Amino acid sequence: MPNSNVPVITIDGPTASGKGTVATRVAERLGFHLLDSGALYRLTALQALRTGTDLADEQAVATVGARLPVRFVGGEILLAGEDVGHAIRAEEVGNLASKIAALPAVRQALFGLQLGFRQAPGLVADGRDMGTVIFPTATLKVFLTASVEARAQRRYKQLIDKGFSANMEGLLMDLQARDERDTNRAVAPLAPAADAYLLDTSEMGVDQAVEQVLAWYAQK
Ligand code: DC
Repeated sequence: MPNSNVPVITIDGPTASGKGTVATRVAERLGFHLLDSGALYRLTALQALRTGTDLADEQAVATVGARLPVRFVGGEILLAGEDVGHAIRAEEVGNLASKIAALPAVRQALFGLQLGFRQAPGLVADGRDMGTVIFPTATLKVFLTASVEARAQRRYKQLIDKGFSANMEGLLMDLQARDERDTNRAVAPLAPAADAYLLDTSEMGVDQAVEQVLAWYAQK
C-alpha cells in the first residue's frame, strides 16, 4: 500500500464527541496533515442536495461522492470553487450525511480519496471507521466518547457560535437518532477498533484530551 510507512493517528467516536477539535489540535502540535472524514460525507450530502440527485438511488449518490469537485486549500473546503466550510456544518446536511453514509457504494466511492491523505510527515484522521476500516494499520487508535448530554451541549454551543439556530431538545433527539444509525448500520459501523485506546471526555476539557492523545502517541 502506498505511504503505509507514514504514521497515522485515528480518532473515532460519535457525533459531537469533540473528536474534530481534538484531532485538529493534535495535528497542529505534531505538524501532521488532518483528515476530517465526516466532511467528505457532508460534502457528498450537500452536493447531492444541490444537484437534485435522487437520494433513494444509491449508485447516483455514490457517483456524486466519487466525483466531488472538492479542493482543500489551507483551512478552506472548496466545492466547485465555493467555500462550503460553513454550509456543510448545518444540521440538515449532517443528518443527510449520516443517512447516505449507511450506503456501501457511497463508502466505497470515498475510500481512495481518504487513503490519499496519508502523506508525510503524518496524518491525524477523525471519523467513525478510521481505525477499523480505512487505516487498520494506524500507529495509534483513539476512540473518544462522551455522554449524550455532554455532546448535545457541545453541539448546541457549536451551532450557536457558527450562527445557526438550535434547540436543545431537538438536538438530543437528532444525536440519538444519528448514534443509532451510525452504530447499527451494516457497513463500517461506529465501533472502537479492538486495539483502540478509549477516552471519555464527558468531564474533560479539550486541552486534557489533547495531552492524553499526545502522551499515548509518544509511547508508540
Ligand atoms: O463527524 P461528522 O458528524 O461530521 O460526520 C457526519 C456523518 O458522516 C456522520 O453522522 C456519519 C458519517 N461518517 C461516517 O459514516 N464515517 C466517517 N468516517 C465519518 C463520518
